[in-house]
Amino acid sequence: MKALVLAGGTGSRLRPLSHSMPKQLIPIANKPVLAHCLESLAAIGVRDVGVIVGDRGDEIRASAGDGSAFGLRLTYLQQDRPRGLAHCVQIARPFLGDDDFVMYLGDNMLVGGIASLAEEFHRTRAAAQVTVTKVTDPREYGVAEVDADGRVTALVEKPLHPRSDLAVIGVYFFTPEIHSAVRRIEPSARGELEITDAIALLVDEGRQVNAGRFEGYWKDTGRIEDVLDCNRELLSTITTGIEGSVDAASELIGEVIIERGARVTRSRIVGPVMIAAGSVVTDSRLGPYTTVGRDCRLRGAGVEQSIVLDSVAVTQVRGIHGSVLGRGARVRSVPADAHRRLVLGDDTEVEIAA
Ligand code: DAU
Repeated sequence: MKALVLAGGTGSRLRPLSHSMPKQLIPIANKPVLAHCLESLAAIGVRDVGVIVGDRGDEIRASAGDGSAFGLRLTYLQQDRPRGLAHCVQIARPFLGDDDFVMYLGDNMLVGGIASLAEEFHRTRAAAQVTVTKVTDPREYGVAEVDADGRVTALVEKPLHPRSDLAVIGVYFFTPEIHSAVRRIEPSARGELEITDAIALLVDEGRQVNAGRFEGYWKDTGRIEDVLDCNRELLSTITTGIEGSVDAASELIGEVIIERGARVTRSRIVGPVMIAAGSVVTDSRLGPYTTVGRDCRLRGAGVEQSIVLDSVAVTQVRGIHGSVLGRGARVRSVPADAHRRLVLGDDTEVEIAA
């Protein structure tokens, strides 16, 4: 079986972060979402992976390389603009040939992997198998109606009035039957070739389409809140590993990972927390649920429930909560009566005590 990973698209809901990096490269537990996805694919024995990329393809390539770090062989497939999930299947046809394949949306996180879903597909080998999970508001997703045998009876993309609470999430298994369905659909109201419509066509034609239930933690990392939530979820599974240096005046509580070359001095770290290589934390309070990327400088900082990307500097600012600090961001305090100088990128959000 081959795999097709979708790493194009726009990421407009993840601004401002998506201005400077494709959304699939946002780090969760200090690792890009895309890397989590590639690891899940390697774990089910896939080797050949086509990666759809758009105008941020260079950054995706620089991050995932030829795939050998994951035990995979990656082939990059260029999409001229985001024309829909079914369009991705269409342009990948020469790569996919007549093989079965798993399609993985590169911004989706399915914690715990997809092994049981893959086994189910191998066992039944339905024409297609979507993955579903219960959600409270299905209107922003593909929505499936499923009978008692787990067969999909209807499928609609982002319905205004959903007839079930089962959202279709980002892992699909296909036999080559999907290709003829993809050729026969028209663009949707949002102007995209929807994979949901192609699968619905198979359902209407009486082909077997199954719904595999995903019971674990899942997130479409489309919004900052989702990214933070997912980061908390993954952090809750880490176990302590201290390879960096921690001085005697520092206190570590709970599960904390400090990578080789990171330095913690006179600080209190309340896990779960991860501090990546090259970062220096001094006179600070970190955590819980906080990741610090590489080469950061945190001095007199207080950061909790947050994601700090690479090369960030925080100086004498406490009370940072539920925040995402983009690469190279600098946050520092000034006296209460001083002017506050802000250099904010497009679509940035800042909260300042009045
Ligand atoms: O997250 C699950 C949902 O994903 C499903 O419930 C929906 O049925 C499905 O249509 C999809 O909806 P989204 O509107 O969230 O898809 P999004 O535009 O975010 O694209 C998903 C991934 O595919 C993302 O990594 C970007 C990539 N992509 C998207 C399009 C439209 C491409 O590579 N090329 C594209 O043309």
